[in-house]
Amino acid sequence: MGRVQGKVTIITGGARGQGESHARLFAQEGASVLVTDTLDESGEAVALELRESGHDVQYMHLNVTSEGDWKSVIAAAEQRWGRVDILINNAGIVGTMKSVEDEGLEGWSKTTAINQQGVFLGLKHGVPAIERSGGGAVVNTCSINGTVGNPGSFSYQASKGAVKMMTRAAAMEYANRGVRINSVSPGLVMTAMAAEEGEESNREFSNATPMRRAAQPMEVSYGVLYLASDEASYVTGADLLIDGGYTAQ
Ligand SMILES: NC(=O)c1ccc[n+]([C@@H]2O[C@H](COP(=O)([O-])OP(=O)(O)OC[C@H]3O[C@@H](n4cnc5c(N)ncnc54)[C@H](O)[C@@H]3O)[C@@H](O)[C@H]2O)c1
Repeated sequence: MGRVQGKVTIITGGARGQGESHARLFAQEGASVLVTDTLDESGEAVALELRESGHDVQYMHLNVTSEGDWKSVIAAAEQRWGRVDILINNAGIVGTMKSVEDEGLEGWSKTTAINQQGVFLGLKHGVPAIERSGGGAVVNTCSINGTVGNPGSFSYQASKGAVKMMTRAAAMEYANRGVRINSVSPGLVMTAMAAEEGEESNREFSNATPMRRAAQPMEVSYGVLYLASDEASYVTGADLLIDGGYTAQ
């Protein structure tokens, strides 16, 4: 039996990077996975490849900022599988990477719309569906940038700090209603997002990390899997740092 055998799992931002890695691990561990993203071609390709390896995986378009898309995705999952057990709010953007002084309303709004409002809508529509199914788990995606301050990515850090607190607030609302809500806070992870930040910035970040390297996406996926699975049955409102020791310094 897999560690999430038979659990219906919705993953946002699942077309590439960490979301894709979560989709692969959850499928391997027996979950029925609904991969969602705005990158439809890549998302369809991930789902097709996993189906061809014998897994129960579908793809659906979901822009996390759209309440209409959220309603359609939850309805589609309930129609296909009759339930939703796990929601992984993973979609995110690094945004403008500007200081508070240089940031504009447009950059702020775009970053917080995807990283923060997207998680709000996921919780708003996903958690009741999980409750209807008799309980389950949500894993949100923060970042060490939601814990420690760094200059030059004000909106991103604001959005990730908010996700950490939204995780705790929602966890309190559902602690005795069968839905556990936790988050992971990765350090630097080798994905397209890290590439966007540039080689020099990545080198500096790795050098400032006690393990002296970035994470591979699967090293985050195992943490997400733990929090989503019944192995974490007494864990809610927690933030799991997966950061090579960065925040322990
Ligand atoms: N890479 C890192 O170093 C790092 C570190 C800490 C936290 N994170 C967080 O991890 C998560 C995954 O990032 P990643 O590293 O895999 O980056 P990535 O850019 O490879 O993947 C992000 C995914 O989110 C999707 N996405 C973006 N906007 C969307 C929207 N409006 N609706 C739906 N999907 C959307 C993208 O299409 C993409 O598939 C993000 O929340 C990110 O903030 C990343």
